[in-house]
Amino acid sequence: MSQSATPKGQQLWTGRFSEPTDAFVERFSASVDFDARLALYDIEGSLAHARMLAECGVLSAHERDAIVTGLAEIREEVVNGTFPWSPQLEDVHMNIEQRLTERIGEAGKKLHTARSRNDQIATDIRLFLRAAIDDITAELRRFQRGLLDLAEREAETIMPGFTHLQVAQPVTMGHHLLAWYEMLERDAGRLSDCRTRLNFCPLGAAALAGTSFPIDREATAQALGFTAPTRNSLDSVSDRDFAIELAAAASTLMMHLSRMAEELILWASQQFDFIDLPDRFCTGSSIMPQKKNPDVAELVRGKAARVQGSLVQLITLMKGQPLAYNRDNQEDKEPLFDLVDTTRDALTAFADMVPAMAVKRERCREAARAGFATATDLADYLVRQGVAFRDAHAIVGQAVRHAAASERDLADLELEELQRFSTAIGDDVYAVLTLEGSVAARDHIGGTAPAQVRHQVAQARARLELPT
Ligand code: ARG
Repeated sequence: MSQSATPKGQQLWTGRFSEPTDAFVERFSASVDFDARLALYDIEGSLAHARMLAECGVLSAHERDAIVTGLAEIREEVVNGTFPWSPQLEDVHMNIEQRLTERIGEAGKKLHTARSRNDQIATDIRLFLRAAIDDITAELRRFQRGLLDLAEREAETIMPGFTHLQVAQPVTMGHHLLAWYEMLERDAGRLSDCRTRLNFCPLGAAALAGTSFPIDREATAQALGFTAPTRNSLDSVSDRDFAIELAAAASTLMMHLSRMAEELILWASQQFDFIDLPDRFCTGSSIMPQKKNPDVAELVRGKAARVQGSLVQLITLMKGQPLAYNRDNQEDKEPLFDLVDTTRDALTAFADMVPAMAVKRERCREAARAGFATATDLADYLVRQGVAFRDAHAIVGQAVRHAAASERDLADLELEELQRFSTAIGDDVYAVLTLEGSVAARDHIGGTAPAQVRHQVAQARARLELPT
């Protein structure tokens, strides 16, 4: 065992120890390198705790005032980057407590009365994640607003709709973009559900069993903006469901962004050529002078993997833990910080980039014309003439085969040619074979008609204005 780097007595819990911590163990167990990020939430929690203790007569008003002043000064140091973080003091909690005692003396040593780092960290992460959910949601909403503007702009733009990545039926690009909007709407709902469930205050659970001091848990919960105190102290210090839930919501959101990224990448390719991404969101090649690569979209697709990795890490972290707190939980911070940052940044990238893309309307229309996209419309036409749908399906299949053989679209066939497949076809058939006729006909809730797209955009805008 290597020698300790800690002069005896520096850590705050060494009373029962007969030798200093091994230097390696000190490094192995320290978390301040990453949990320092929680400092402002830790201070917020400590302020609420100290004020409550004074209200309950556990601290004097004088002690409380000293603590409040000392913590305010420490907050300044943290914000200005002058706080003297020490890895010997293990984590954010003990760094701040020690600093407080350095500054205000005896009263600082009383702050930890009726509290443990276990309920403290459980509180800090909840406060952190609550704010993170609000940040992520704000960026998500900004992206949704951008999508609505773009959908409105492209309400009439016809492009192929795909199944199996084969041209299926014509759709409007506005409709396609509104599909993205709906995915994000469910993501917003998941984030909001997660926020509701995590917003309970563990302070007062102390190490695991509660405390013998006459504390007021309602007061701290209220001061910190929580709905209520948690109801079981053992659960309070050990529960990390909310972290897993957020990771799952973020993974689903990133999966959605990754699917959008995949489509943007395809659309920007020479083969599709549906869109032009703004130059400022693309990069060139070091060797091929002609290249303009959709790297931002590719990175969003790649970063989805990180967030999914964090979800797996967090759920695996919890699965073997007995009640109540275990040090394993320290391992939740880095994946949580990473997934929060990654998800917010991916949304920022898309909120900025996607609404700024240029849509090549003529190219989109051409692509929809190329794949017999109105074949279903011809079948529907025959049904309206009294042909059973299954028979109509077969008739149109033969007409498609005939047109494909001469590399023409259905709309390019002469009436006399079409009538070879069914005498029910009249010269009014060309109206349904046009792309515009096809999309305009799908004018019901959720349909692809330009009128529906505009209606859905208006409704979505109204919903976004509602208070949440
Ligand atoms: N750094 C710890 C964590 O992240 C804080 C709680 C430490 N508690 C303890 N009993 N060692 O979970």
